[in-house]
Amino acid sequence: MAVTGAKKKQIAILNGGGDAPALNAVIRGITVKAISLGYDVLGFRRGWAGLLGKGEPHPLDLDRVQDIHMLGGTILRTSRTNPYKVEGGVEQVKKNLKKFRCDYLIAIGGDDTLGVAWKLHQEGVKAVGVPKTIDNDVNATDYTFGFDTAVNIAADAIDNLHTTAKSHDRVLVVEVMGRHAGWLTLHAGMAGGAHIILVPEEKFDMKEIVKIIKNREKKGYHYTIIACSEGAVPKEGGMVLQTDEKDAFGNVRLGGIAQRLAKVIQKETGKETRHVVLGHLQRAGHPTAFDRVLGTRLGVHAAEMIHKKEFGKISCLKGTEIVSQDMKAALGQLKTVPKKRVEEARLFFGLEG
Ligand code: F6P
Repeated sequence: MAVTGAKKKQIAILNGGGDAPALNAVIRGITVKAISLGYDVLGFRRGWAGLLGKGEPHPLDLDRVQDIHMLGGTILRTSRTNPYKVEGGVEQVKKNLKKFRCDYLIAIGGDDTLGVAWKLHQEGVKAVGVPKTIDNDVNATDYTFGFDTAVNIAADAIDNLHTTAKSHDRVLVVEVMGRHAGWLTLHAGMAGGAHIILVPEEKFDMKEIVKIIKNREKKGYHYTIIACSEGAVPKEGGMVLQTDEKDAFGNVRLGGIAQRLAKVIQKETGKETRHVVLGHLQRAGHPTAFDRVLGTRLGVHAAEMIHKKEFGKISCLKGTEIVSQDMKAALGQLKTVPKKRVEEARLFFGLEG
């Protein structure tokens, strides 16, 4: 049933953290459903920075969100701003919600953005959330939108790299995003036929890698492709960081493990070895059909959650259903790849792809 009365209630939307394909599908899903229920929708640009007053908010109507579900990125733009790290930030956020007549808030983001939404909810803001990340590491939901697109991009890249690796009899180490969770590497590696998959959940053994490459060589397979998580850690030595800097949420910047690994492999096997960093390509471009549908459904459900006053909850995928889960359940602990899934992948290690 639609909201009635002279002045419509208004829902604020923002997305924080790295962009993820199908963010626009979520924004469209929320907007279309909310409007059908009788609400106005106001988009804040650049995540929490938008609610801190950096930039004018952006009214969202049916015309503005038409067909945006097919576009990558986010029409609202994004940032990794943390209002709890800005002096007077939280008061500013609350003041702006009031100033722009926002009765409710939908925050789309990963652990960091949802953590802020949860704190604000505890301070009286009527907020709900939609989990977002290509890393697929948010608890309480089976899959995050954007993950499928990133998997397809990375799997395609790994798949394509077979021809050049084979032509040159080389080892190629492909660095895949995902922070401290190996979902993206595992799925892309399996789909793309990587001969070795290295995920952060299990420290890797350099000797075993060298053995697999040498065994392949003996069998007449003169090339090897390794899918390596940016957060993969060798048994001896630690995680590779790009810099010591941390973002406003304390996240380190990972990257460089593939290059390091390639050098050691070349030295230990005598085989020409190169590294390839897939980087932000994995978050770029149009979302897959799966992500467009998932994002749309999650967005529609989030608007319904506001209407049903399910504040402090997030819109999640469980099996094939979209359900409301406690926001708290998504926070603090990452959803990592279980041992069983790593073992499953190991069955294919070293095989010709
Ligand atoms: O969390 C998503 C993600 O793409 C990670 O996989 C990656 O480590 C990080 O963001 C990169 O962050 P940025 O876009 O700030 O370089």
